[in-house]
Order: sequence, then C-alpha cells, then structure tokens
Amino acid sequence: MTHASLLGQITDYANRANPYPLYEELRKTPVLHEEGGPYVISSYWDIKNLLHDPRISSDAANLAAAGDDELSEPEQTGLPPSFIRLDPPEHDRLRRIANSSFGPPHRPTRIDSMRGELGQIVTGLIDGFGDTRQIDLVDQFAYPFPVTVICRLLGVPREDEPRFRAWVDPIVAGLDPDTRTGADSVFKQTAQDARMQLGMYLAGLVEERTKEPREDMLSDLVTSHGPDGAMTTMEVLATSVLLLIAGHETTVNLITNGMLTLLRHPEYLHRLREDPGLSVRIVEELLRYEPPVQLVPQRTCIADITVRGVTIPKGSRIWLVLAAGNRDPERFEDPDRFDPDRGDIQHLGLGSGIHSCFGAPLARLEAQIALSELARRLDNPRLVEDPPPYRQNAVLRGPRHLNIAFDGLH
Ligand code: HEM
Repeated sequence: MTHASLLGQITDYANRANPYPLYEELRKTPVLHEEGGPYVISSYWDIKNLLHDPRISSDAANLAAAGDDELSEPEQTGLPPSFIRLDPPEHDRLRRIANSSFGPPHRPTRIDSMRGELGQIVTGLIDGFGDTRQIDLVDQFAYPFPVTVICRLLGVPREDEPRFRAWVDPIVAGLDPDTRTGADSVFKQTAQDARMQLGMYLAGLVEERTKEPREDMLSDLVTSHGPDGAMTTMEVLATSVLLLIAGHETTVNLITNGMLTLLRHPEYLHRLREDPGLSVRIVEELLRYEPPVQLVPQRTCIADITVRGVTIPKGSRIWLVLAAGNRDPERFEDPDRFDPDRGDIQHLGLGSGIHSCFGAPLARLEAQIALSELARRLDNPRLVEDPPPYRQNAVLRGPRHLNIAFDGLH
C-alpha cells in the first residue's frame, strides 16, 4: 500500500465503517508526509505532545498562510474566527469568558444543574417511540437530544432547528478533508456563506438578549464583564456559532457509536442495564474506541519541529489522527478490544492541551444518561443492519442512521 493512497483511503467513504485497519497501517509511518500534503501524526504520545506544544498553532490565519486554500474568514464573512481557531492570548481570554457562564469554578455549574432536565428530555424522547418496534436512533433520539440541550443552554428557540440545520450542514461538510479536491473552493465558499447566515440569525437573538437578558448563555455572553472584560458583539456571535455546532454535531455520534458498540458487545449492555453507574466507564472507553472526532486537521507549525527524527518545517500543515492514537498498542494494551473495565482510559477523544474540549462535562453527562436510559428501557434491542450507513464526514464520523428493533419499552 503506498502512502499516497493511504490518506486517500482514509478519506474515502468506502472505508468509513471501519477505518481502524488503515490507522494501523498509518502508525507504521508515525510522521507521514506525502508530496504537497499535510504531515500526518498517528501515534499516541506524538499527538499528545504536539497538542501541548506552543509551536503548533490553531490560528486560522496561519492555516491559510500554510496553503490551505481556505478563504480568509473575516474578509469573506465578517465573522472573526471563534476561539477553536485562535492561539493565546485571544484564545484564552475568549475561552475564559465563555467558561465563566458554562462552568465557573467553585460553584455548582450550569451543567450539574441540568442533570434533571437532561433526564426529562431523554424520557420524553424514549416515550415518543410509542408502540413502534423499530426506530432510527439517529433521527428519533441521538440528534434531537443534544440539539434540544444546546438550544436550551444557549437560549436558541428549539423550533428554529430546521432553519439553523440548513446552515449547520454545509459548515460541517466544509470540515471534511474529502472536500479538498475539485469542488473544494465551492464547498468552502458555501460553508462560509452558511456561517455568515447562522451568525446573522444569532445576531437577532443576541440583540434581544442585550435589551432583555435571560437565564441563558447568550445573555451571559453579552453581559459578561469579568476580569477579562467583555466580548465584542462579533466575538459573541463567533462563540455562539461554535457552541451551537460543537454542542450537537459531535454528541450525536458519541451516542450513536455508543449504542452500536453496545449492541455489538451485548454483555456490556446487560451490565449497564443492571448498573447505570457503569455508564461513566463505558463513555470513556467509547471516546477511546470509537471517537466522534477522528482527527484534528487544522493545525500549523509556527517553527521547525522534529518528531521521531523527521523535521517538520515551519509553515507546514499538520493532521493529528486522534482515533489512530487511541488505538496505539504502545499506549494501550489490546487496543482493538472494547473494554470499559481497562484500568487506564486516558484517551485523546476530547483532545488535550489548551484546546481540549470545552463542552466535555456536558458531552459526558449527555452520553451517560442517554446510554443508561436506552439500556434500561429498550426490551431486547437488536441491530437491523450491521454495519449501518455512515455520514460522509471523515472528521466527525458516525452512522447516518442506526435502525434498532426491540420488543417493547420498559
Ligand atoms: C474542542 C471533541 C462535545 C465545545 C474539542 C476538541 C475535541 C472535541 C477533540 C479539540 C479540538 C482541537 O484540538 O482543535 C468533542 C466530542 C464531543 C464534544 C467528541 C461529544 C461527544 C462538545 C460540546 C460542546 C463542545 C457538547 C459545547 C457545549 C467545544 C469547543 C471546543 C471543543 C468550544 C474548542 C475548545 C478550544 O479551542 O479551546 N471538542 N466535543 N464540544 N469542543 Fe468539543
């Protein structure tokens, strides 16, 4: 297998259902560089070290300069990059302001206080299966659940979902490296237009909250005047777009990958039914074994960096393949085994370092409640189709549909 074909195969939709043998191949060349392409890093410790290395930049401007034919966002959309695409000190300031609303230290966080509400949403969705004996878990549960949660958290009307979904879909498609060739710039332009429209939609809500703040995160973002000062309106909009998208496009895949994995390993489904507390370890092992974010393709070196004797020149683009690191046998024993009982599950599924997932407490809690309730309430659940059909996206990977048959509800 040539290296040139290896990256192509990873992004090839035909391999979406099981990319793990390709990642095993990839780890044989821990710093892979094909002509004109990014430097691809696939071993656990290399990824972890680079995620903590200040010579690796997340700044959208550096990525554009590195030859990613990304359009300059502020020029094209009027929206500045959100903090996931910024370096310190801007990144840290914006993340701290957002965090003062999401999970301030030393008092019960917004997320802790939502536990009961999350349970009610899950119960409502499962009750909604009614008398049917077969469901599509994605459309009937795994998508609507985190969407409802992030809408309530931010203060975005849930009934507007069909409107913002039309903008979110092209933005997410624009993250897929498979859109590089040919139609690439069309894709990128469409994604940027959609981001601007989503920003304009949110601007209406932000204006309302500025006049009349409520108990939601949009209100907190516009009114926050802590030690870091206030966000500008543009920063509020960029942050809201980021939270709205990151808040549901990943969790849907964690829940769906989770149920698929449990149905393939029914002993854990049975154990979870008896002991909902096991959901904590199951979710951690899922974030290792089937991570919803497979790779981080948006990093640039801002100095020469040597990894395993290979010098990655300043200005190069880097891909960090989290899902390959998570199955690195140098780090995890028997890595291809789904084993929530393994003592040590320090996965890369939520990233690491300063950009590590901002929504991690919420993502974990949503998945724990969702999986333990599905295990408890579905009588004799079984997969209708294995493997299920997957979404196109190679970065945010998960089934598009997951049809499950069952004998009734408890
Ligand atoms: C960052 C994964 C859920 C908000 C990240 C990163 C990963 C990740 C891997 C690091 C990206 C990088 O290094 O460039 C996930 C997964 C989730 C999830 C697997 C669900 C299972 C959420 C939720 C929210 C959220 C629910 C919001 C409520 C963010 C934000 C960042 C981020 C804002 C950027 C952090 C920064 O740049 O400082 N996430 N995420 N995520 N995530 Fe999540």
